[in-house]
Amino acid sequence: MVSREWWRSSVIYQVYPRSFADADGDGLGDLAGIRSRLRDLAKLGVDAVWLSPFYTSPQHDAGYDVADYCAVDPRFGTLTDFDELVSEAHRLELKVIVDLVPNHTSSDHKWFQEALASPEGSPERDRYLFRPGKGKHGNQPPNNWESVFGGSAWERVARPDGTLGEWYLHLFDKSQPDLNWRNDWVRTQFIEILKFWLDRKIDGFRVDVAHGLIKKAGLPDYFPPKKPRGMPATPFWGQPEVHEIYRTWRKLIDEYPGEKLFVAEAWVSPMKKLANWVRPDEMQQAFNFAYLGTPLKAGRLKSVINNSIAAFGQVGSPSTWVLSNHDVVRHASRFGMDVDYPQGDGIGPKSPVKPDRELGLKRARAATLLMLGLPGGSYLYQGEELGLPEDIDLPDAARQDPTWARTKHKRYGRDGCRVPLPWTPDGETFGFNNSTESWLPQPSFWADYARSIQEGDPTSTLELYRLALSTRKAKSLGEGQLRWLEGYPRTVLAFQNGAVIVIANFGKKNISLPRGEVLVASGQLTDGLPPNTTVWIRAPK
Ligand code: GLC
Repeated sequence: MVSREWWRSSVIYQVYPRSFADADGDGLGDLAGIRSRLRDLAKLGVDAVWLSPFYTSPQHDAGYDVADYCAVDPRFGTLTDFDELVSEAHRLELKVIVDLVPNHTSSDHKWFQEALASPEGSPERDRYLFRPGKGKHGNQPPNNWESVFGGSAWERVARPDGTLGEWYLHLFDKSQPDLNWRNDWVRTQFIEILKFWLDRKIDGFRVDVAHGLIKKAGLPDYFPPKKPRGMPATPFWGQPEVHEIYRTWRKLIDEYPGEKLFVAEAWVSPMKKLANWVRPDEMQQAFNFAYLGTPLKAGRLKSVINNSIAAFGQVGSPSTWVLSNHDVVRHASRFGMDVDYPQGDGIGPKSPVKPDRELGLKRARAATLLMLGLPGGSYLYQGEELGLPEDIDLPDAARQDPTWARTKHKRYGRDGCRVPLPWTPDGETFGFNNSTESWLPQPSFWADYARSIQEGDPTSTLELYRLALSTRKAKSLGEGQLRWLEGYPRTVLAFQNGAVIVIANFGKKNISLPRGEVLVASGQLTDGLPPNTTVWIRAPK
């Protein structure tokens, strides 16, 4: 049974609807496909699913460009499909988290179309961040901000009479105009959107770009520090006024029965600042991207784990942990390289360093078993339970992430972690659907990673995840406390969490293991604990 404040210890599985399962065979995953596979997720042993956007959208940023927040894109199904998915999930005791994208809308959204059709200075324009350009003819952008996907963050629009007029801000693609969150009308609209989904019995929201809604007043230019230490303060991320918005939202969800969750996608550092997103009257969780970005070095991991538990603990919140999502290179590939490409760049045929597939998988399994042994909540990204690597050989013509085009092919972007899942070793699309269509082509070697052939094979990554998740639940590791164990080499992490001892060897030599029953191991245990392997051992009474 899920306990009170279930999110304190939950494992939440991210479903990327485009690529999970495709019931209608058009090559793009859909809600009916997800519903048909929920049983597999219940069997995996997760507590909840988080669905990336499935709303009406022109799909210029894979659905993170929303044209109608309260409608399902026909490519993904209907609201009835959504309701059926939620009922089926609840029947299987899985909670459902949906993605809320409040920082920007799609440029197709009616609010933006109305703004374009309205005069400069009108209330409709004030829903977004329209500004006059600089220079004599206003032909320079209002400031020097850059889009996360590359290029300027400003786009100029024509007036209804055809002459060039103001510019609008888009921190992402130009098809994603930023909303003006200092405008009360915008705030009211989002309260209605939250209610719409809460009334459909969802269990929470993942809040996209939760650090970006408020921009510094006056929209000043930004000059990055020459030698940045950590994440520099910018006029567009992490402004203090953003917290007031989340306090209002929290009051609203607290009026609903059950424990509704908000989890912030906030790229903010240091950890102490990030903890502000999860103060008792704001959200409950924030993704721990510092953890995601830490290389597998025992000292670095120990310090990020300590910092996380301390910083979140200060505001009464458990930490969360995550290794992969739809924006980063899959961890089975990240850990197979010595370089660290910047987040969002991706890896492709021309990248100077390519991952070692076997080493990457071995280390990914060790990293996951370490993560699932930590107290707090964890996030999994679809396909990692199969040990899927990044697809680094996608043909250029197939790439769809706006990063690829906006950087004139300098950055590959995120398509490599978004390729549809293999369910069976045969079939044109490995069981993703019953047709030959797949919005991104799957590599042929993915047949070896198919879920069906991993089922029941105790050496498979799928069975490792299942065993780890059931043991984690049985031993209440999510609710536990971490105590470091002394006497191990510096390249080893060893701690006790309740009745379980977790040991991860990231050094070069085998180490001897304490006595005790082995509960789970990420790899073969020969001659103690080999390098790049994690083990869970029953602690002595
Ligand atoms: C978030 C999403 C990412 C998207 C961006 C703009 O970072 O995770 O996929 O491109 O926001 O909405």
